[in-house]
Amino acid sequence: MIDLRSDTVTLPSEEMRKAILSAKLGDDVFGEDPTVNELETKAAKIIGKEAALLVPSGTMGNLVSVLVHCQRGTEIILGDKSHTFMYEAGGISAFGGVHSRQLKNQADGTINIEEIKSAIRADNDHFPKTSAITLENTHNLCNGSPLSLDYIEDVAQIAHNNDMKLHIDGARIFNAAVALDVDVKDLVMSADSVTFCLSKGLAAPIGSVVCGSKEFIYHARRNRKALGGGMRQAGIIAAAGIYSLDNMLDQIKEDHKNAQRLAEGIDDIDGLSIDKGNIKSNILYFDIDKEVEQSEKLAQQTKNVDLYPFEVILNNIHFFETYPRRFRLVTHYGITGDDVEKTLGVLNKMVN
Ligand SMILES: Cc1ncc(COP(=O)(O)O)c(C=O)c1O
Repeated sequence: MIDLRSDTVTLPSEEMRKAILSAKLGDDVFGEDPTVNELETKAAKIIGKEAALLVPSGTMGNLVSVLVHCQRGTEIILGDKSHTFMYEAGGISAFGGVHSRQLKNQADGTINIEEIKSAIRADNDHFPKTSAITLENTHNLCNGSPLSLDYIEDVAQIAHNNDMKLHIDGARIFNAAVALDVDVKDLVMSADSVTFCLSKGLAAPIGSVVCGSKEFIYHARRNRKALGGGMRQAGIIAAAGIYSLDNMLDQIKEDHKNAQRLAEGIDDIDGLSIDKGNIKSNILYFDIDKEVEQSEKLAQQTKNVDLYPFEVILNNIHFFETYPRRFRLVTHYGITGDDVEKTLGVLNKMVN
């Protein structure tokens, strides 16, 4: 099976498994797991923040961050296609009482700067206070687009001029740094907090890391505990994370190369459309043209679907239909150049 559903499906390499097996462990809730401490120190250094916190998932990383930045009844500005708004089970409102103000994500994952400015609430009894903005980099639902350093700095400035915080959902921040060819530190320098995932492009089995000031992490740690995310001998997770940070960054370049090749190949297939120029990382979406008939094999699988995303399997290629006739592929560790060519061969037969 060539599994292109997500970069979360990766399995740990032999070397990563060895690192997990030999990890020195302790009770991390007591601050005594040396491997977790090492990962947090390393992550903070790489991201360029004072401190870091290991959390079980990207969802929890975003949630603990928003809970630090926003009091109950205040408002956060986020994109209408952002992962936090779309796919985190409404956690920020369910657990934080945070009111979300969704602004339109443009095709490149940005939110229009003027719209951000005009969404910030005046100080008036009728309004919730606008406490924070969150940006997603790279932007999953917007073709895995990387948000540029200049754009992030502009948004940070607006936030800080208005007594607000900027959080970055950097589940794939290393993909953004590679795509833009910038140091990840610079990319997040103006943000107050960042979550990045070990379990996506970096190919670890579990875990995300939240980074920010010491004070921010102090509060984030409390929130993690309250949410049940205080883990004990979490060094077995952290060991994989350390291995990822030390060894997997080059893999991201490979993943982007494979995504480019897929995009070029899809662009050459009559009946399929792709915004090739906007494929800059490891996520790509493509469509079957309106007037074009789907192959019988595909039509059979997709004909009665009314809930998306839907999992398509064609000749051992596994991927998502995200909306009718719109499909997503994600490249990652384990996907080779050969797999890409095989996939293109199968996609060629998606349309009649
Ligand atoms: C952009 C983005 N943010 C956050 C998450 C959440 O990560 P997790 O699945 O670890 O909760 C994901 C997961 O796919 C994501 O794509």
